[in-house]
Amino acid sequence: MNSRREAEPLVLGIETSCDETGIGIVRGTTLLADALASSVDEHARFGGVVPEVASRAHLEAMVPTMRRALSEAGVSLADVDAIAVTAGPGLAGALLVGVAAAKGYAVAADKPLYGVNHLAAHVAVDTLEHGPLPEPAIGLLVSGGHTSLLQVDDLTGDVTPLGATIDDAAGEAFDKVARLLGLPFPGGPPIDRAARDGAADAIGFPRGLTAAKDQAAHRYDFSFSGLKTAVARWVEARQQAGEPVPVADVAASFQESVADVLTAKAVAACRERGVSTLVIGGGVAANSRLRAVAERRCEAAGVTLRIPRPKLCTDNGSMVAALGSRLVSAGVAPSRLDLPADSALPVSVPSV
Ligand code: KG4
Ligand code: ZN
Repeated sequence: MNSRREAEPLVLGIETSCDETGIGIVRGTTLLADALASSVDEHARFGGVVPEVASRAHLEAMVPTMRRALSEAGVSLADVDAIAVTAGPGLAGALLVGVAAAKGYAVAADKPLYGVNHLAAHVAVDTLEHGPLPEPAIGLLVSGGHTSLLQVDDLTGDVTPLGATIDDAAGEAFDKVARLLGLPFPGGPPIDRAARDGAADAIGFPRGLTAAKDQAAHRYDFSFSGLKTAVARWVEARQQAGEPVPVADVAASFQESVADVLTAKAVAACRERGVSTLVIGGGVAANSRLRAVAERRCEAAGVTLRIPRPKLCTDNGSMVAALGSRLVSAGVAPSRLDLPADSALPVSVPSV
């Protein structure tokens, strides 16, 4: 191991904002371990994450997941330079389990603690795959609870929201449309799969907030609730007529509308703001069609596209460790030991 690598911080990250208990370990921008325990199966029959069930599952998974991460990385807690934890946004009870555990580990092992923003961590995780992020960059963050377009001048302290969804998040739209089509929760992966056998141009679903009249007030904002309603109406009309619902075509046409709007607005933001890097993060960034359309449009616009591999797009601990590592390297002071879990932490606050 060379000396530069040795000098890079060894950071452990803990993620519990939703239904995944994730513990990741990184050295600088090198991923050493990514241990994950999911309670998704316990929520599936409810069609959405049940906060109390998620909190209890985090509690049960915390210690075994920590053991797995440390053994996978071949390190002990004493070797770690800092502990990072998701402080928000997310489910309050779920966040509290991670924050309390992180405080316990930090005190027991006498390590600095960093409370980090889950949304900024979805962007930071890309450094584990593509190395340091060129800044400024435009960030497109698409998850189950958030959809935001960001100007990232410095991921450790200067993130400016350009726009966001005015109703449903992109992932929420996938989850709701999957339910309509009788596909399981979470809806993104089954829609992605079903769409492979369908035609993206079979049904002309609406493109939210892309009309000329929306360009002034909502240029970089998104709306997916009209799309969801349009899909519901289309499916109902078929059912009422006693005709079978072409699930693959509906999935492909719905997915096309989401991918089209997200990438068009993200690339427009790059062009209009003179920024040459686009980074996409969050669970919906795992979507194969979104990735393909983004690639084509970025290439045409001369924009460098960065999207982490699908496994790093959905919630995990290494994204938290990646942002923690960046904060340590930038010399940002650790958080206080009484740091709160903030379920509504704004995207512009990378660490608390
Ligand atoms: O970032 P994430 O794991 O958790 C949150 O922070 O919300 O995102 C979860 C969301 C879910 O709505 C899920 O349906 C969606 O990401 N998702 C996908 C895909 N994989 C996960 N959406 C579309 N296509 C996918 N392949
Ligand atoms: Zn997330």
